[in-house]
Amino acid sequence: MLVVPTPSGRPFTQELAVELSERPWLVFTPARYEGIDRRVIDEYATRMPVYEVSIGDYVLAGGEAAVLVITEAVARLLPGVLGNAESHRDDSFAPGAMASLLEGPVYTKPPEWRGREIPDVLLSGHHGKIARWRRDEALRRTTANRPDLIERCDPAAFDKKDREMLSILGWRPGPDGRFGRNPEAVEE
Ligand SMILES: C[S@@+](CC[C@H](N)C(=O)[O-])C[C@H]1O[C@@H](n2cnc3c(N)ncnc32)[C@H](O)[C@@H]1O
Repeated sequence: MLVVPTPSGRPFTQELAVELSERPWLVFTPARYEGIDRRVIDEYATRMPVYEVSIGDYVLAGGEAAVLVITEAVARLLPGVLGNAESHRDDSFAPGAMASLLEGPVYTKPPEWRGREIPDVLLSGHHGKIARWRRDEALRRTTANRPDLIERCDPAAFDKKDREMLSILGWRPGPDGRFGRNPEAVEE
């Protein structure tokens, strides 16, 4: 497959990264100045699939950095690249998850660093409470940073506890069941 980085391409998403990771090979054509001559793209499209891909709504001077971004995201999905093949399933934007939420904050070791402690629940060993805390933090971060993801979510993706958390965060279901910001909620 030929991947043509261009600001006018389809948005590069985790879903597209998964699709590209399933291809046996990829060829990239980073460009400079005005980009790749259309005839080159049309010529290669007669021989192989061509995807024009944008890494975001901004314009870089050249496509090399875009190729690095795409390669980083695709390569870590290939078998053997990550130590734990399951770990990318919990990432932000992981396709197949019921709701596409951002990952919440991450804590590692030690339990205390410069007087700052890891939240007690994460040290409790209680897997159910830890999972709930992570989910609440994911909802908190997604509503703050990417409200569009919540608005697009299938409401069936939210369980009772999710709904309680969304209500605390100032969100409520609209007539179609999808969640939106509650206009009456008081901004903090
Ligand atoms: C200066 S840009 C060309 C911009 C082009 N005139 C336009 O407005 O769409 C030069 C090259 O940088 C790369 N590039 C710039 N922004 C990009 C983006 N958001 N995503 C992917 N590639 C990008 C592409 O390879 C592009 O051909």
